[in-house]
Amino acid sequence: MVEKFKSGLVDEQQVISGVSLPVDEESDILSLRPQRMNEYIGQSEVVETLNIAIEAAQKRQEPMDHVLFHGPPGLGKTTLAHIIANEMKASLTTTSGPALEKGGDLIGLLTHLEEGDILFVDEIHRTPKVVEEFLYPAMEDFAVDFVFDKGIHARSHRYRLNRFTLVGATTRVGLLSSPLRDRFGIFRNLDFYAEPELVEIALRSATLLDVGMDHQAAEELSRRSRGTPRIVNRLLKRVRDYTQVKGDGYINCEMVELALSLEGVDIMGLTRLDRKYLRTVIEFYNGGPVGIEAIAATLQEETDTLVDVVEPFLLKTGFVIRTASGRKTSEAAYKHLGFKAQGKLF
Ligand SMILES: Nc1ncnc2c1ncn2[C@@H]1O[C@H](COP(=O)(O)OP(=O)(O)O)[C@@H](O)[C@H]1O
Ligand SMILES: [Mg+2]
Repeated sequence: MVEKFKSGLVDEQQVISGVSLPVDEESDILSLRPQRMNEYIGQSEVVETLNIAIEAAQKRQEPMDHVLFHGPPGLGKTTLAHIIANEMKASLTTTSGPALEKGGDLIGLLTHLEEGDILFVDEIHRTPKVVEEFLYPAMEDFAVDFVFDKGIHARSHRYRLNRFTLVGATTRVGLLSSPLRDRFGIFRNLDFYAEPELVEIALRSATLLDVGMDHQAAEELSRRSRGTPRIVNRLLKRVRDYTQVKGDGYINCEMVELALSLEGVDIMGLTRLDRKYLRTVIEFYNGGPVGIEAIAATLQEETDTLVDVVEPFLLKTGFVIRTASGRKTSEAAYKHLGFKAQGKLF
């Protein structure tokens, strides 16, 4: 079951059924989500591309081109889908690749779209192949082809759809087939946020949550948030709790440090799992190179979690290097964890 709702009235709890809601879909985290383009902090090139596309589409009174966002979790892909719907004054229908099990699931959604509506497909790389094939004519010609009967009696009937905009999001653009990728007019990568942008996000969220925080504290929080707005918001809530219990409710730098070390977040923003990953490569595999499957087996974690959630930031910071023969940890990783580098003494 996928429900449709008017954008702006955020009630996405019910929208994607069958998929458990991540922690940040809780209502007070949802209220931190920017609703309009001018509230969206950072990613300036993406924002500019979208502003132009939105304005041009409005001038021509046409739906906007299909858009694909890719990048690690928590960087604002879902947020942008909502913002596009708000700016286009369109209804937003949300689903996800794994929720679309059969062609019929997708057709049901497509045939209910009105002119200009936005269809958001999260984790689009996990859309089954049979369903993906219905997406091609839908995206290109705004049509679905029904096939009746089988073999030599097979007939097909083309059903016209209202013109809509597909917004896709994926953490793994490499897994997307090229026919699907090629049908998106706008194709944008979201990268980790720079510290000043995270500071702005932290201060904005603190204001919305009605909690006092000084600039230095916002900086410390940002340094420890793995370049990710979702993590800024999540950690801010933990720090807020800590301050209300152990302090006077006002967030300063010391409170951030105390609360986050309790959370297992270190000065670089690495979590326990990040450090376990690095330690495994260093201690079990001598710093690598080692295949991701072997790391996952040793850690008893899903390979997908490591690839989607853990590795992007470790690669970004240079703690991990990907080579043709597997993953390696860098000297910086040894140093950060307090190991002596291979064959070297600090
Ligand atoms: N550019 C931004 N400015 C302010 N807050 C943001 C921004 N991007 C993301 N967020 C915050 O981070 C949270 C996670 O973003 P989301 O769009 O759900 O990420 P994704 O879909 O890429 O995993 C949002 O709820 C929102 O509060
Ligand atoms: Mg999302």
